[in-house]
Amino acid sequence: MSERLVVIGSQWGDEGKGKITDYFACRADMVVRYQGGNNAGHTVVFGGHKYSLQSIPSGIFNPATVNVMGNGMVVNPVSVIAELEKLHRQGVTDYQLRISDRAAMVMPWHSVLDGAYECRKGEALIGTTKKGIGPAYSDKYSRIGLRMGDLLEPDYFALRLRAALDVKNQELRMLGLDEFSFDDVYASYMEIARQIGHMICDTSDLINEACNTPGKKILFEGAQGMMLCIDHGTYPYVTSSTPSAASVPVGAGIAPKWVENVVGVAKSYCTRVGEGPFPTEIFGDTANEIRERGHEYGTVTGRPRRIGWLDAVVARYTGRLAGIDYWALMLFDVLSGLDTVKICTAYELDGTQVATPPSTISRLSRCKPVYIEMPGWKEDITGARSLADLPKAAVDYIRKIEELTGIPVGIVSVGPDRTQTILLNEKLRNF
Ligand code: IMP
Repeated sequence: MSERLVVIGSQWGDEGKGKITDYFACRADMVVRYQGGNNAGHTVVFGGHKYSLQSIPSGIFNPATVNVMGNGMVVNPVSVIAELEKLHRQGVTDYQLRISDRAAMVMPWHSVLDGAYECRKGEALIGTTKKGIGPAYSDKYSRIGLRMGDLLEPDYFALRLRAALDVKNQELRMLGLDEFSFDDVYASYMEIARQIGHMICDTSDLINEACNTPGKKILFEGAQGMMLCIDHGTYPYVTSSTPSAASVPVGAGIAPKWVENVVGVAKSYCTRVGEGPFPTEIFGDTANEIRERGHEYGTVTGRPRRIGWLDAVVARYTGRLAGIDYWALMLFDVLSGLDTVKICTAYELDGTQVATPPSTISRLSRCKPVYIEMPGWKEDITGARSLADLPKAAVDYIRKIEELTGIPVGIVSVGPDRTQTILLNEKLRNF
């Protein structure tokens, strides 16, 4: 029997999934991304170098690992080529990458439309990454989208491109924007096919084969975070996919029975980029201190991230929705130096306590966090490699998270490097 591990973001994205995925990718035979696109920004640090990935799976640094961009993703091939070129420049030249022939393709008009729709929303803007992710998923579901496999059949690609441009150019015209010429797009995408066409295949076949092979280790790498989920997040301030373990079967093309060992990556505090309600958001000195110490600026857009205390209401909710088996508690070292630390245990909404986030942002925006306050710790913990190396107040904080969520902490990260990791769970140690 193969071993499978799913790594997902449990807050608003940017939880440190890149590091955790990379940690396990060293031993994984296959790393699969199954949703989202190049709106994700994954930072991986090792050997003193910092690498940032947007759409390519985090296993790309291990030449023995097969990296798969699954059918549930929206793939921007221009971004894939740029990411690969950047990796080449950084010396990463030996890798295996496969792209699903069924993955929706992000086309040049998608980012133009993403920006145009945002401008028109005025105060209600979502703060998207403007990578065209929403418009690409919309076209997929409107059934006018192009897919990566279309690139392999030039005549069919031409047919699909003409059909898409008929609709899209009309939309662009109505918005007063420049239209796209069939000939230009066709020529540039045929060049793209020449460069990466050999990577495009039926990835569901590959993944199923791996699932059925005894001893194979497969890592499913989620992007964004559960609170940005199109169904369960803070709608409409969300992304356009489902960043849950529940997306793995559909987005990778495997049966649900293969989904197990879900690691929910959570920062030791919370951050959010873009607009939308954020009940535990804090401002002022403590927020600034955490932002600077945690380098809390977006990897994709460079925007300063909003900062908040850890939210156990969100943790319980996302834990339940995604079936999280263990927490990976990230950026724990960033909390060192604070006099006290807070965890939100419930919300107060119009005079009553609620234990789960309400569905509308109007009610969520009225939620006031109910906190417990715990003693902080001053020690530098970046050298800690076991619980015994941590101050008592830090261990108490970890135990409190487990108590409030009913989910054990399996990993504690005390710095960006691979080695700065405390592993608390035997199953995870053996993956
Ligand atoms: P979109 O995914 O570009 O449509 O953006 C929708 C919302 O999701 C915006 O608030 C973005 O800032 C947020 N978002 C998308 N991807 C990420 C990510 O990888 N990390 C954090 N936030 C993200």
